Amino acid sequence: MAAKRFLLMVVVVVVVVVEGGAAVEFAYEGFRGAGLLLDGMATVTPAGLLLLTNDTNMASSQKNYTGMSKGHAFHPDRVRFGRPAAAGAGGGFAAGVSSFSTTFVFAIVSEFLDLSTSGFAFLVAPSTDLSTAMPQQYLGMFNGTDNGDSRNHVFAVEFDTVRNPEFADINNNHVGVDVNSLNSSAAEPAGYYDDGDGAFRNLSLISREPMQVWVDYDAAAAVVTVAMAPARRPRPKRPLLSAKVNLSTVITDTAYVGFSSASSIVLVKHYVIGWSFSLGGDAPALDYAKLPKLPRIGPKPRSKALTIALPIATTAAVLAAVAVGFLLLRRRRRYAELREDWEVEFGPHRFAYKDLYDATGGFKDKRLLGAGGFGRVYSGVLPGSRTQVAVKKVSHESRQGMKEFVAEVVSIGRLRHRNLVQLLGYCRRKGELLLVYDYMPNGSLDKHLHYHGDDDRPVLDWAQRLQIIRGVAAGLLYMHEVWEKVVIHRDIKASNVLLDGDMNGRLGDFGLARLYDHGDDPHTTHVVGTMGYLAPELVRTGKATTLSDVFAFGAFVLEVACGRRPIEEEEEGVDGAAAGDRFVLVDWVLGHWREGSIAGAVDARLGSDYDAAEAELVLRLGLACLHPSPAARPSMRQVTQYLDGSAPLPELPTTYVTINTFDDVEKHRPLFDSWFVWRPTSTTTTSVATMSDIGLSGGR
Ligand SMILES: *[C@@H]1O[C@H](CO)[C@@H](O)[C@H](O)[C@H]1NC(C)=O
Ligand SMILES: *[C@@H]1O[C@H](CO)[C@@H](O)[C@H](O)[C@H]1NC(C)=O
Ligand SMILES: *[C@@H]1O[C@H](CO)[C@@H](O)[C@H](O)[C@H]1NC(C)=O
Ligand SMILES: *[C@@H]1O[C@H](CO)[C@@H](O)[C@H](O)[C@H]1NC(C)=O
Ligand SMILES: *[C@@H]1O[C@H](CO)[C@@H](O)[C@H](O)[C@H]1NC(C)=O
Ligand SMILES: *[C@@H]1O[C@H](CO)[C@@H](O)[C@H](O)[C@H]1NC(C)=O
Repeated sequence: MAAKRFLLMVVVVVVVVVEGGAAVEFAYEGFRGAGLLLDGMATVTPAGLLLLTNDTNMASSQKNYTGMSKGHAFHPDRVRFGRPAAAGAGGGFAAGVSSFSTTFVFAIVSEFLDLSTSGFAFLVAPSTDLSTAMPQQYLGMFNGTDNGDSRNHVFAVEFDTVRNPEFADINNNHVGVDVNSLNSSAAEPAGYYDDGDGAFRNLSLISREPMQVWVDYDAAAAVVTVAMAPARRPRPKRPLLSAKVNLSTVITDTAYVGFSSASSIVLVKHYVIGWSFSLGGDAPALDYAKLPKLPRIGPKPRSKALTIALPIATTAAVLAAVAVGFLLLRRRRRYAELREDWEVEFGPHRFAYKDLYDATGGFKDKRLLGAGGFGRVYSGVLPGSRTQVAVKKVSHESRQGMKEFVAEVVSIGRLRHRNLVQLLGYCRRKGELLLVYDYMPNGSLDKHLHYHGDDDRPVLDWAQRLQIIRGVAAGLLYMHEVWEKVVIHRDIKASNVLLDGDMNGRLGDFGLARLYDHGDDPHTTHVVGTMGYLAPELVRTGKATTLSDVFAFGAFVLEVACGRRPIEEEEEGVDGAAAGDRFVLVDWVLGHWREGSIAGAVDARLGSDYDAAEAELVLRLGLACLHPSPAARPSMRQVTQYLDGSAPLPELPTTYVTINTFDDVEKHRPLFDSWFVWRPTSTTTTSVATMSDIGLSGGR
């Protein structure tokens, strides 16, 4: 059976070379014996499929990301694109490049259905040596320095499954025409126009389904057209995109044609199943009957063994077996986890659900440490190591954001600083994510700061508060400037600061905000982050930066020094306030500053038990960080210098305003409204640590 199939897959190569270099034509219906020039991960499978990436090095090399690489495949002979110069023109390629046409069938098979990385491209390049090109989002074609350089002489059509803002990508499922650059000259979401009703139909590049593409260059008009359709369908009459690009100065006189792809942290196979090309004419049609088949994907069929009955078993034995089976089933359900192949990479960070279940006594209520915006936190002791941990249960549907997030969590888990709560690992269940952290015996700062009850919990003294502020500043500095890549916290506030045994402040929950950022819950009515800590530009643009973290840090500093929340809704009758009045901490501190008594804003519960000079410094620093203009805020490095006295904190300008104190609120109504009411925008954010660069562990 198998042998018969192989016979059908004999490569059909038709190469027509008309003397004088005028025409080249070839067709590969499968690539066995085709003699393609392959490099990197590219291989031809025994069945004859061209496999551009088979990203298993990386999965086995665990945390060493250098295994991530590229794959290239080229037709073995150079193609003479240059048209013979017109008489008297003096040679060279003054007459420009010839028209050409190509078609190919491809499939992208990611290890899971809704996430992929990178993508691939058809390309025309002056050389087959792409050793200086980078993997991941560079698709193995360019690198950080030559992207956009006209000396590349590369023309490509990319099939990109990641939205990279750095290349102005339109979405995470697009087709783009690339001229010397990953910033496409033209791009459209993948899909086709139906010949029947003319409607546009989306195609998902990562659907694992084979699709056919047609790329044509019309030299006379200098137009590139790209069309695509699901496999076996005829070429759509209306192309997906059509772009005016004159390739005369792009493609060199002779050049190689082929494919390029690159891998990233997710295991994705980019297959080319068949390919034809023609210079000057139409690319030969591909016969689907002759193309090799994609390997079957999905779980192996169930074993039929259980259908064999056990007719002679005694009743007792059957009952016992049923009971054991029932217990096993219950156990299986109780400890069921969600685990996918891509997680192999994160193996060392993965906890077994059973261990977490046992550690927390089955998530008993009496182990509950707290419940917050993102989930419930339980204390536990890991079996074996006896390590005390905090386990956070975040309920979340398995969405794309979730998977991206796990990669990021693991990446962030490598952050190590005494002012960050160490993330030890994670576990996934259906609809649920569990994060395992170091246990912080003194709990959340929020509880200490805003505790107004009358048991004997002591009020945090000034020295402790200063130490906490300094610690959190040091942790943030590490995230922003010291670690190998910039990490933005996005949700700094007292309730995300935990206190260790020595009452040091440690930042926790970093990155969680991002998970919700990616989630597309239509009921989300507030931006990622918390009101009162949100920088105005973050509210307007949805883009978190280190300076929006500095803003939140400013709000946090005032909160710790004053013992009040950034924004408090006054209850009716309290202090003569009308219902719905807001207490805005920053304005209150600003009022004290204007009156020349800024230290008067310090938490009244401290009495006069604080260092007035330190308090003034801290409060002024908080205001400086809360400057409405990001450019006017200090960096975290400056903040730490001001706090340790190694640099003097500049005076606030007398014109200092906060966003809430515009004289004419009406005039700034839109801004003012957006300060309190967040409407999610469709295009949110790119923190600096995005999916695409998580793998790049070195170099920055
Ligand atoms: C791709 O990787 C898998 C896993 O290591 C391996 O079994 C398979 O043979 C590889 N395929 C090719 C064509 O190299
Ligand atoms: C990663 O692997 C490469 C190649 O095998 C090796 O040169 C490099 O030293 C490794 N890096 C680390 C951090 O282990
Ligand atoms: C980028 O590629 C170009 C060749 O196009 C090469 O000259 C350059 O050294 C590469 N840069 C890096 C940083 O690898
Ligand atoms: C690509 O687009 C990005 C984002 O718009 C821009 O910053 C960058 O300069 C562009 N690069 C090139 C080579 O055009
Ligand atoms: C295609 O996908 C986009 C984005 O996912 C969606 O907005 C659009 O409605 C879809 N169009 C069709 C015809 O399905
Ligand atoms: C393309 O550019 C070449 C060289 O600059 C020029 O000779 C040719 O006329 C252009 N073709 C079109 C259609 O504009």
